[in-house]
Amino acid sequence: MIILNTAQEMRDWSTRAWAKGQQIGFVPTMGALHEGHASLMRAAVAENNGAVLSIFVNPAQFAPHEDFGRYPRTFDADCALADDLGVAAVYAPAAEAMYPPDYSSYVEVGGVSEGLCGASRPHFYRGVCTVVTKLFNAVKPHRAYFGQKDAQQTAVIRRMVRDLDMDIEIIEMPIVREADGLAMSSRNRYLSPEERERALALSRSLQIARTAMADGERDADTLITQVREALEPVRVDYVALVDTVTMEPVTTIKQPVLLAIAAYVGNTRLIDNIKFIPPDAH
Ligand code: PAJ
Repeated sequence: MIILNTAQEMRDWSTRAWAKGQQIGFVPTMGALHEGHASLMRAAVAENNGAVLSIFVNPAQFAPHEDFGRYPRTFDADCALADDLGVAAVYAPAAEAMYPPDYSSYVEVGGVSEGLCGASRPHFYRGVCTVVTKLFNAVKPHRAYFGQKDAQQTAVIRRMVRDLDMDIEIIEMPIVREADGLAMSSRNRYLSPEERERALALSRSLQIARTAMADGERDADTLITQVREALEPVRVDYVALVDTVTMEPVTTIKQPVLLAIAAYVGNTRLIDNIKFIPPDAH
C-alpha cells in the first residue's frame, strides 16, 4: 500500500491506474477508522481493482466552536487497517496545501443540504462538498463509497454529482452498529461509560419507530413524538422524517423515508437514522 501526500502525487497514481484500465473505488474519511469505515473499504476493494482511502480532517466543515482540534487522529493504526483490507493507496494531504492562505473557492449545494444537520451546522455541507470535490479531482474515482450513517451527506453528494456532471457512481453502505445497537462513530470515543449507556437512547428510539412503521403507523407527528419520548435521556437537536432523496419533510408516509435524529450526550453530538420503504410505495 502506498501513502500519497499531495494532490499531484495522487493524480499521477490515478492517471496510471486509468491508463491500465483499472477501476478506482474511493472511500473518503476523516480517519479514526472503525468497522463502519472498514465496511466501505471492503466494498471498494471487492468492487474495483484499485481502492483508495483518503484521511483528511477537513477544517472547512468544522465551525470554530466545534471539535476540529480534538478530533481523534490515529493515522498509523488507520493505515495498518487499510493495508490489511487490501486498499492500494492512502491519500493524506496536508491542510495547508488543501487550503492555502489565499484559498477562496467553495461548492454549495442548495435545497437538500438545508434541513437536518445543515440547519444545525450551517457551515457544514459547504465544507463537505468543497473537500469532496477536491478529493474527487485528485483521486479521479469511478465509484465512491459513503455510509448511510450520514444519510443526508450521501444525498447531498449525490445531488452535487448529478448537478455538476461528475462522472462518479455514488454507493451508500448500511450503518454498522455495535452489538448493543449504538451506531459506530469516531466520536463515540468521547463518551464516558455513563454517556455511552445513555447514548443507546438514539438507536432504541429508532427501533421503536421502526416497529410502529412496520405495524402501519404512517403519521409523521405521531412517530416523531414517540421518538422524542424515547430520547428523554439525551438532549435532542432534531428529529425529522424526510423524503430519502430530497430531504424534504414528510407528513404522511407514502414514499421511502428517512427518520433521522441528532442529539447531544453530554457535549458530544451524535447522529443516527433508519430508512423505511412502505410496502405499497411506488
Ligand atoms: P467520516 O465521519 O470519517 O466518515 C467517512 C465515511 O464513513 C462516511 O461516508 C460515513 O457515512 C461512513 N461511516 C461512518 N460511520 C459509519 C457507520 N457506523 N456505518 C457505516 N458507515 C459509516 O463523513 C466524513 O468523514 C466526512 O464528512 C468526509 C465525507 C470524509 C468529508 O470530509
